[in-house]
Amino acid sequence: MRGPMADQQTGTEVDIEAIAATARAGLAAADDEAALESWRVAQLGRKGVLTSVLRQLAGLPIEERRRIGAEANALKTELEAALESRRLSLAGERLAATVAGGQVDVTLPGRTKRVGRLHPITQTLREMTDIFVSMGFAVTEGPEVETDYYNFGALLIAPDHPARDMQDTLYIDYQRDGAYPFMLRTHTSPNQVRFMEQHQPPIRVVVPGRCYRNEATDPTHEWMITQIELLAVDEGISLADLKGTLFEFAKRMFGQERKVRFRCDYFPYVEPGVDMSIDCFLCGGEGCRMCHNEGWIEIMGAGMVHPQILTNMGYDAERVTGFAAGIGAERVCLLRNGIEDIRSFYQNDLRFLEQF
Ligand code: DAH
Repeated sequence: MRGPMADQQTGTEVDIEAIAATARAGLAAADDEAALESWRVAQLGRKGVLTSVLRQLAGLPIEERRRIGAEANALKTELEAALESRRLSLAGERLAATVAGGQVDVTLPGRTKRVGRLHPITQTLREMTDIFVSMGFAVTEGPEVETDYYNFGALLIAPDHPARDMQDTLYIDYQRDGAYPFMLRTHTSPNQVRFMEQHQPPIRVVVPGRCYRNEATDPTHEWMITQIELLAVDEGISLADLKGTLFEFAKRMFGQERKVRFRCDYFPYVEPGVDMSIDCFLCGGEGCRMCHNEGWIEIMGAGMVHPQILTNMGYDAERVTGFAAGIGAERVCLLRNGIEDIRSFYQNDLRFLEQF
């Protein structure tokens, strides 16, 4: 039976119904966070009404203790849940008031996370590398700080060649015997020699990487550029293999309908040397700003590896031949995207970089 009950030891009355009624009314009247908190302390806190009821239970006869204990615990659970839902509905009312007051625009889009991406040159270089890998080339890398021997001498670039000039090459500030033996590599070609020193034919390898030149920068010149070097050495390799490989590369990179042009060019480490151009995709060969009115755009240097180099590597130049090429990734990326200034790549302007 419910109702007033006399605590035999203390004489305190425990009326759960009355406690519940007061507590419910108090909660309904609490209309902000501070009022809710003082209600919680008064009703459910360590010194609150319910806690003291539960404490008194110990002194009650077993029957009473069971009944009142169960009722008090049920009430505690009820009040805790009621507190939580009152809290939520007050928060809801506050939000509704803010929205109605025009302070929150719930139609605004959510905040999106910014996702990073690879630099356009990294993307281009990977795409170029993938094309050659799909044709059976392996990938290797070489040092960016090079010696005079690998960067120039071993490639038959003569001591008085203008490329060796301080004006063109960034030398490391270290002197030995009156000379500067170390430099930042000016091209990836030294890796032809590095690779041939370590391997016997057949060779099919590409070497991507950064190169450095002492340039006064302008829209078509940067002091840091990225190249991919291509080298194939085997019995029976001919200029036709070079053409076939580079044709295929150009078509995959720039489109099947591109025309490709080879012309003679001079590089000391190849014989014959060629450069390769594609017909301008902006004007289709008519001549425009993009191709400097030529109708053709040069995309790489290439050639048949000089027999002297093959001999220097200990190969039998009567038996094996090879071709090599060096392609600039910035140039490829500029051309494919109609970018007008090579310097855009390395200015860290997110408005530019986020377009790729
Ligand atoms: N190393 C040359 C450059 O940086 C490009 C080049 C030309 C690479 C001819 C080659 C080659 O392998 O055979 O301009």
